[in-house]
Amino acid sequence: EFNFFQNWYPIFPLEDLEINKPQSFTLLGQRLVIWKGEKQKKYQVFLDLCPHRLAPLSEGRIDEETGNLMCSYHGWQFNEKGICTCIPQAENQELVVKNQHNFAVKVFPTREENDLLWVWADANTPDLAEKKPLPLSPQIDKEKGFVWSSMVRDLEYDWQTFIENVADPSHVPFAHHGLQGNRKQAQPMAIEIVKSSVNLIEAQVSRLFTTTITFEPPSRLEYAIGFGDKGQQLGLITYCIPIEPGKCRIVAQFARNFAYSLHKITPRWWEHIKTRNAVLDGDMILLHQQERFLQQKLAGENWKNSYKMPTKADRLVIEFRRWFDIYCEGKLPWEKVGFSNFEN
Ligand code: FES
Ligand SMILES: [Fe+2]
Repeated sequence: EFNFFQNWYPIFPLEDLEINKPQSFTLLGQRLVIWKGEKQKKYQVFLDLCPHRLAPLSEGRIDEETGNLMCSYHGWQFNEKGICTCIPQAENQELVVKNQHNFAVKVFPTREENDLLWVWADANTPDLAEKKPLPLSPQIDKEKGFVWSSMVRDLEYDWQTFIENVADPSHVPFAHHGLQGNRKQAQPMAIEIVKSSVNLIEAQVSRLFTTTITFEPPSRLEYAIGFGDKGQQLGLITYCIPIEPGKCRIVAQFARNFAYSLHKITPRWWEHIKTRNAVLDGDMILLHQQERFLQQKLAGENWKNSYKMPTKADRLVIEFRRWFDIYCEGKLPWEKVGFSNFEN
């Protein structure tokens, strides 16, 4: 069985975070506070609940003197290990010292790599986090001649809907007509599955050049698009992060290894990347509704009956749905964090 919690998720590009300004984010139904004072070397991620009386710590501030995170409600303070260091109302200091662990905040393991802040979604298994490598993209690599940029966006549709959508390149000429593609240029798209296991699905689309699509569950869905006669490659790296039922965050990275000849070569995919937000908007209008229609159907039948998928263009969608059935029983672990299920 696949465990969504025991995984690394890149929840923010580092450039979108600010020192001395706590932020909140919900990862798999768990409200988090992300913070860093001038005294900390890296960002800290805690459960966004003050142990005193459950005020959101993301509304708190970094204390100038101690450099610790201070709750805005009654001023309790927490250091980077989550330990309570100060209770302004304490009659004696012993109360604080003796109860450091009792009054501690839950701390999530973090990493900073490839310009992203990564969080391990299970606060109870830091040892496991230590052992598990980050799902990094092989295309985010200066040594191989790549340059890249990063973006973040929250979407009003479910994690599974996003994965299904991005696993399906055949929607591009239609859903993004005029922006990226042209519906008149649509053609058969023979997707072949090259590898498929609980930890990785890899597919290829071969035309003049080969595009490889990799899904490393639960978050990384990546395109490596080859073209040209000099080994040029475009990378579209998306990380899809489940927020709660019907909501997900996309952290995307756009990589290329041909930075200087950009004005001469503009492959079709480039437009999809350049007009990022407009492209996501085009999908949103369809997907927000489509996922609800599917969920209604799934109450009484299997997706194999709800969908008609006769062409190879849907091959990776089928493989993803199979994976989701086999290893996740077709659902995200919302019950574990207090949501009943997918809420229409
Ligand atoms: S709720 Fe945080 S200090 Fe009281
Ligand atoms: Fe799209």
